[in-house]
Amino acid sequence: MPDYTLRIRRYNPETGKAPYWDQYTVTLDTHEAVLTGILEVKNRHDGSLGVRCSCRSAICGSCGMRINGQPGLACNTQVGDAVKRSKDGSNTIVIEPMGNMPVIRDLIVDMDAVHWKKVGRVTPWLLAKEPVPEREYIVPRESMVDVTQTMACIQCGSCVSDCLAMEADPEFIGPAALAKAYRFVGDPRDAQHQQRLEDLAEDPHGLYTCTHCFKCIDACPKDVAPMSQIMRLRRIAGQDHHIEDVNNGERHEQAFVVLIKKYGLLAEADIVPRSYGGNGITGGKFSPKSGQQIAQSLPFLVKAVLRGKVSIKETLIPHRLAPEDRAQIKTIFETVKGREKRNELNLYITGYDEDGDPHTEPVSTDKEGATA
Ligand code: SF4
Ligand code: SF4
Ligand code: FES
Repeated sequence: MPDYTLRIRRYNPETGKAPYWDQYTVTLDTHEAVLTGILEVKNRHDGSLGVRCSCRSAICGSCGMRINGQPGLACNTQVGDAVKRSKDGSNTIVIEPMGNMPVIRDLIVDMDAVHWKKVGRVTPWLLAKEPVPEREYIVPRESMVDVTQTMACIQCGSCVSDCLAMEADPEFIGPAALAKAYRFVGDPRDAQHQQRLEDLAEDPHGLYTCTHCFKCIDACPKDVAPMSQIMRLRRIAGQDHHIEDVNNGERHEQAFVVLIKKYGLLAEADIVPRSYGGNGITGGKFSPKSGQQIAQSLPFLVKAVLRGKVSIKETLIPHRLAPEDRAQIKTIFETVKGREKRNELNLYITGYDEDGDPHTEPVSTDKEGATA
């Protein structure tokens, strides 16, 4: 069996010392879990090493940490896979506590201070429709299939660890909590879809703070795909419930859509007025809100022009695709718009139907935000 070097970040706030690194050698089969190596260190070398774990089966969500730069569960990351991510190609595995959360000790982070606080923020329980039936609610099977993906979350915090938006804005509600919010917005038994969506859209650290970096999708050991759930919340809030958010996120998205439809390309100079002033005939150019925003952006714009990054001519006369290419884009828009229902592909649910045909089951979302 090969030897592996575990380089573990240590920190004990009670000592008043800064964090430091310790290194241990363990002998493991390539298929064994990183957690097995950490527990061997704890049992044989240093009992003071702080690590949280319980099930060792990727169920309890307690062993989240960064392993060679990637957040995930130590109990379902094999040492052989972990060393493939090693920067110098050696058998060294660098193990750190998760990011975006304060460290309590060594590999243990304070989940209460960040993760659980944010989950609590989204009212993570069903606000039942009245009248509550004497027995169970009867709901379409597809509705529950739709929310299964978010129900798979084990609250490990791996997605929170490396969320770039949360790093820039610690108040951001974050991927795990927003995935949990979708779990109830997608549930037809819940009575407060509109209120939940308004709440998330009106929070300046809410729905539109995510920057689509995909980190949470890569990190999640349960394929919850939190970013996809956030995008679904946005579509339901904006397109179905016509909720305008405080960050102009919905209008910003619409500005992209309108410009691509019109020119086939993004006309950057039009984005700011449309995002702040709306997509009317004047393209938001005369709205006081967009004027204010353009005035605020002027110093950056002048710098960009002076450095040759922006051309005034190209700003005033946007690029556009050739007419035949624009016609193709228009056809795509018309095809999508012409659909009776929007198809949301729940990638978590794949498999075989009863007659054995392999398929992925798309889930349609109706105008109420419930599934049909
Ligand atoms: S996709 Fe959004 S929510 Fe997910 S990690 Fe990136 S910024 Fe955070
Ligand atoms: S969404 Fe995935 S990564 Fe995030 S807490 Fe849930 S299981 Fe962990
Ligand atoms: S120990 Fe339970 S998820 Fe790893």
